[in-house]
Amino acid sequence: MVEAPSAPHSDAGEEKRILSGMQPTGALHLGNLEVLRAWAKLQHEYRMFCCIVDWHALTTMFDRTQEIGPAAQAVAADYIAAGLDPDRCSIFIQSHVKEHAELHLLLSMVTPLGWLERVPTFKEKRDNLQLNEESVSYGLLGYPVLQAADILVYRAHAVPVGKDQLPHLELTREIARRFNNLYGPVFPEPASIVNEATAVIPGLDGRKMSKSYNNAIYLSDDADTVARKVNEAFTCPTKIRKTDPGIPENCVVCQLRRVYDPDGYQTSWEEDRQGLRGCVQNKRELTEILNATLEPIRKRRKELLADPESLARYLREGEDRARALASDTMRDVRAAMHL
Ligand code: TRP
Repeated sequence: MVEAPSAPHSDAGEEKRILSGMQPTGALHLGNLEVLRAWAKLQHEYRMFCCIVDWHALTTMFDRTQEIGPAAQAVAADYIAAGLDPDRCSIFIQSHVKEHAELHLLLSMVTPLGWLERVPTFKEKRDNLQLNEESVSYGLLGYPVLQAADILVYRAHAVPVGKDQLPHLELTREIARRFNNLYGPVFPEPASIVNEATAVIPGLDGRKMSKSYNNAIYLSDDADTVARKVNEAFTCPTKIRKTDPGIPENCVVCQLRRVYDPDGYQTSWEEDRQGLRGCVQNKRELTEILNATLEPIRKRRKELLADPESLARYLREGEDRARALASDTMRDVRAAMHL
């Protein structure tokens, strides 16, 4: 689903740019892989920036910053292993392009507090952190302003995101509009490109796949780990015996099969409905399918992590391209603001 981008300044015929980002808060899993596969398709249609947002990770990891650097390297390897081509899109670490910070500061001056306090992700995080007042930082409240800066510093026309990020995108547009009204038309209002596929990756327990639910299959899991996790996955609760009819819609194994065996899953679903196949067979086949998908990715990420110089070179090239564009934008921003 792509909304029509609305650009207050006319740039018809210009290249179309998109930016997206992920936090380096830990290993990436199958849910993230679907996001990356969607990005990999977009890299052929747009000039694409793929950011690893380590400053955003500070909002929750400020007390264990030593984990962020290695996680950022691993995310970079995952990006490339999952199909992002570093020659085609610019892969870089947010904190290496300081323009994000400058724009974040300037945007923070035109962002009303009320807009930020209403953001649903802020309310959720605040309630989850509720330990004490002091765990809710100024930076956490400003998280979406930093995200707006990530997007607007490239004057991106669109942003591929999951549904949960739509309020951040809406806020980005509001901030862009406010800035343009105050200082002149500098920023296009970015559209969102919502990836529907990512909503359908269930975790092993049937909830959304997430690191925090401990229900994820990671890109770094080896073949045996994948087999063990699939064996432990929830299946249809009303199917006790092999010959009981199953309800594939209620079975994590069937759901994952649909995603990773898009051309062949119907037969297995039909057999499941008719009580012609058991969970053991289903799990064995899913394990094989998943491992076939993951093996080339595992191999590539391992190679990249074993060769930090190549990885550093990819990131440096991405960062240089990103900085060139970001510093152009900042020149216009300062001029518009008379700074
Ligand atoms: N908030 C996003 C998430 O948690 C990460 C993010 C930061 C991002 N900056 C961005 C996503 C810019 C898209 C564009 O998934």
